[in-house]
Amino acid sequence: MTSQGNAQATPFLKWAGGKRVLVKQILQFVPNDVDEYYEPFLGAGSLFFSLPAETPKIVSDFNAELISVYETIRDDVDGLLRELRKRTNSLEDYLEIRDWDRSPSFARRSKTSRAARFIALNRLGFNGLYRVNSKGQYNVPYGHPKKVDLLMEDNLRAVSAFLSETDSAGRPAVEFHTGGYKDILQNVSNPRALVYCDPPYHPTTATSFKSYTRDGFNEENQIELHDEVVRLTKLGVRVLLSNSDTEFIRRLYSEKFFTVNELVVRRAIAANSENRGLFTEVLIDNFKAIRRS
Ligand SMILES: C[S@@+](CC[C@H](N)C(=O)[O-])C[C@H]1O[C@@H](n2cnc3c(N)ncnc32)[C@H](O)[C@@H]1O
Repeated sequence: MTSQGNAQATPFLKWAGGKRVLVKQILQFVPNDVDEYYEPFLGAGSLFFSLPAETPKIVSDFNAELISVYETIRDDVDGLLRELRKRTNSLEDYLEIRDWDRSPSFARRSKTSRAARFIALNRLGFNGLYRVNSKGQYNVPYGHPKKVDLLMEDNLRAVSAFLSETDSAGRPAVEFHTGGYKDILQNVSNPRALVYCDPPYHPTTATSFKSYTRDGFNEENQIELHDEVVRLTKLGVRVLLSNSDTEFIRRLYSEKFFTVNELVVRRAIAANSENRGLFTEVLIDNFKAIRRS
């Protein structure tokens, strides 16, 4: 973890599939000579926030509203805190801001007020889900949280400082992009880079929550991602990839140059309460192939 003054920057969102509880286990697999970090499925960025602030990081997610929140925290944390102070933990306030995206004026609202809405909906909504309907309208129900710190002022200020860090050459250390995961991986070839992929998981049961956006991520997408990881492996780029521990994923990553490591996790977010409990997930690395070459 990185220190910013007295506070450490930590993930500020609850995120379905977030790696917060696994991050200590994942860090044990992160090589200690990483001089460039790529995370194309950023979400709440659990591993991202655990890396040294000055390490260059190129990160993306295809959720444009999410990336815009990160940029707002970096560029206008005071304005964001002012907007967040207007929000309250009540069903009425929740439904009022949730409905903003039902009106054409949503696009004209300031980036800062939209970011505050995103954070408030995430803190107050059910189980940290992000879900939109076929029209792209947010439709997660109110979560009735008993106690919630909507402001998280110390952490948001620490996050702002973390996102504003510069690398050893004085350039901004963090670069944000919106888009599909392949976009930021196009030109990676640095053997000291690390790519961490944390895609929507292959479902372990028919009811597993798997639709982060209206597009979802199906088996064909998992196969395409595998092919992208193989492409990077051939270029000598180190990759770590999280996924669920299913037959399909193990078969997909069965080439000799992959190591399938098992991590044990107590999962808190599931569409169905039967899915709560201890699970094995996998963290796949291609380091064998890279050491050999
Ligand atoms: C499992 S979550 C990542 C969680 C993150 N590692 C954390 O600790 O919070 C997967 C993320 O991938 C994004 N996503 C889904 N499909 C994508 C795609 N095709 N390209 C880029 N991002 C995608 C989702 O918006 C979601 O934020």
